Amino acid sequence: MKIAIMGAMREEITPILEEVGSYSTFEHAGNIFYECSYGEHDLVIAYSKIGKVFSAITASVMCERFGAEVLLFSGVAGGISKELKIGDLIMASALCQHDVDIVAFGHPYGFIPEGVIMTETNDELRALAAEVAVDMGIDLYEGIIATGDQFVASAERKAWIETTFHADALEMEGASVACVCHNFGIPFFVLRAISDSADGEAGIDFDTFLQSSAKVSATFILEMVKRLGD
Ligand code: ADE
Repeated sequence: MKIAIMGAMREEITPILEEVGSYSTFEHAGNIFYECSYGEHDLVIAYSKIGKVFSAITASVMCERFGAEVLLFSGVAGGISKELKIGDLIMASALCQHDVDIVAFGHPYGFIPEGVIMTETNDELRALAAEVAVDMGIDLYEGIIATGDQFVASAERKAWIETTFHADALEMEGASVACVCHNFGIPFFVLRAISDSADGEAGIDFDTFLQSSAKVSATFILEMVKRLGD
């Protein structure tokens, strides 16, 4: 199976590249794509750079040019739910864009005409993740992830996103990747380990925990890859 694995930042895919060992590289559309085989699968791995636009480019290339059959996103997020502590894992049940605002035309926050507010992730991939979590003895949280082109470091903005979208975590790429995969008809999965709580301490916490939380997410994603297609 051709599996795409994406992160937004270099730190989010480094643990994956270290684990797969050897790979070839291909430069295209402002990204480096790392290709290798892993077990019975062919992988294409890349980090997009931060935000919805760059992540949409990378996901599109993975679908269209690399023929990805499945896309798995691995990275870090700011926690909204009080249950989520730094290092905890959340898989998205659905994703939304918290910064979409055309309410002046009577639309709800997050809605773009002919689109949807929430894009759901693939059921089978979520079920596989739940199995992996049990076998690894890891608590895996499932919930809504809100995406926007903002690093959220304020209790007020975080509370607004929670109230408006019932979101459990937030980040800057998941919903754009979801939108791309949905439109290409590619099953996708978004996993994030918490790096901060999107509050006044978020900047410091993010810098402190980016690497360790990225590794938690990457390790889990690779375990899913090993079992895909079983
Ligand atoms: N990714 C990790 N933490 C984040 C935050 N606080 N805001 C946006 N994206 C994030």
